Order: sequence, then C-alpha cells, then structure tokens
Amino acid sequence: MKNVLNVKNIYASIGGKQILKDVCFDISENEILGLVGGSGSGKSTAAKVITGLLKPDSGSIELYGRKLSGKRSRKECGSIQMVFQNPESSLNPKYKIGKILADAMSFQLRLSREEIAKRSADLIRRMELPEDTLYRYPGSFSGGQKQRIALARALSVEPDLIIADEPTSSLDVSVQLRMLDLIKEIKEERGLSILFISHDLGVINYLCDRVAVMKDGRIIETGDRGSFFEAPKTEYGRELLSSVPRI
Ligand SMILES: Nc1ncnc2c1ncn2[C@@H]1O[C@H](COP(=O)(O)OP(=O)(O)O)[C@@H](O)[C@H]1O
Ligand SMILES: [Mg+2]
Repeated sequence: MKNVLNVKNIYASIGGKQILKDVCFDISENEILGLVGGSGSGKSTAAKVITGLLKPDSGSIELYGRKLSGKRSRKECGSIQMVFQNPESSLNPKYKIGKILADAMSFQLRLSREEIAKRSADLIRRMELPEDTLYRYPGSFSGGQKQRIALARALSVEPDLIIADEPTSSLDVSVQLRMLDLIKEIKEERGLSILFISHDLGVINYLCDRVAVMKDGRIIETGDRGSFFEAPKTEYGRELLSSVPRI
C-alpha cells in the first residue's frame, strides 16, 4: 500500500529542551497508526511537528513522498487536519456549525455555495448529527456531538491525513465507542490515513492497524496491532500491556 506520511529522523525542542529524539514512522493509505505512550512522552509534540505548528530542529516530514517545507502552502496546510482532545477549544462558540464548515471549505477548496451546502448536509448526516446541526451554535451540543462536528470539519476539506490527539478521552465509554466506530468506517469508506494518539491501549487495540510506542520522546517500537498485543518487542511495551486490566 502507498505511503502517505513519512516522518524521518525528527528532533524537536520546546524552550531549549529537546523533546523529540530521532522520531521516525510511516502511515499508509487506508491505515490507522496508533501512537501510544505515557503522559509527557511527546505524542502531542509529534502531532504539532507534523501539522507544522512546531518547527523541528532537524529531520523531515513527507506527504506522498514530497517534503513539506517550513513555511507551508495553504494546500499543504489543508492536507493534514487535526481533531483535538478538547472540542470546546477547537470550535468557535460564536459561529453556527454551518459557518464553521463553510469557512473551512471555502478557505481550502474552490466550491460553489451549493456544493458547500450539499457537502455540509452530507457530512452532518454521515456523522449521525441532528438535522438542524448547521443552524446551531457549538454550545448547544454534547461533548460527543462536538467531537463528531470536529471530525466533520476535518473531513470537509478532503485531507490526506487526519491526526486525532486523544479525541475520545473526554467522552463517556458508550459515546466513545460510537466515535471510534465512525472513525473506522470513515477510514474504510475514504481510504484515509489516520494518526490516532492515545494513552489508552484498549482504544488502540480496538481501532488501529499498527501501533507505535513512544517513550521519552523516542519511538521505541512499532508493529502490527496483532503482534504488538500478542508479544510486544520491548520491556516498556510489555509494561504498558500489563498495566491494562484486560482488553
Ligand atoms: N508549551 C510547552 N512548554 C514547555 N514544555 C512543554 C510544552 N509542551 C510540552 N512540553 C513538554 O514536552 C514534553 C512532551 O509533552 P507532550 O508532547 O504534550 O506529551 P504527551 O502528549 O505525550 O503527553 C513534556 O515533558 C512537556 O512537559
Ligand atoms: Mg498529549
């Protein structure tokens, strides 16, 4: 399968402190890579580097084999979309959902108003949101609904890659499960590539095709989901697994 993202030998620092050390991994088309690791291991920092929010000290990020420069074009920015842990901070409370989606699409894609309206309606339906969603403000939705709106916005601009950083960590278990299933279905329907960041191995096991384990800013092992959960290659991988009640 075709490689969509190549992360090559990334070193990155925050405030003079080196956080990421020689981080390397790839993601293929139609693949969900689970990035797992303890709190403070550098997962969100890796996401920031990939989206271009943080400039690495060295190393490169490639999308379909093309190196992304420090200053990204509008198209390059659109090709990688984020879904954050906290939907409160990612949806502007002053705008109706219809405007939030339309703004994203008109900034990234050349679409007519009719096309934008049709796409918005399709996405809302696909994300199983209420019919009047486009006419409402973010504050009137539950946490789970807000995360599905954030996912709809990410999908609306047809990205090559979605990075989801703990997107279900703030949700109740049943709501979380529906969101994970939606992510899985969308991946299959669109052949999407997803970097799914979580500290929750149960979630990773449920959702991901492959797993990368991060510790102290380094990727210490990667492998297929099956082989990782069957027999982790590192001591730390075994420790992570043994600390999970039962998956
Ligand atoms: N804005 C920041 N200022 C200072 N240190 C930071 C900042 N963001 C992250 N760090 C540090 O970088 C390390 C990795 O953080 P992070 O990438 O958020 O980890 P994770 O997402 O795996 O929990 C931590 O030691 C954290 O304290
Ligand atoms: Mg984090």
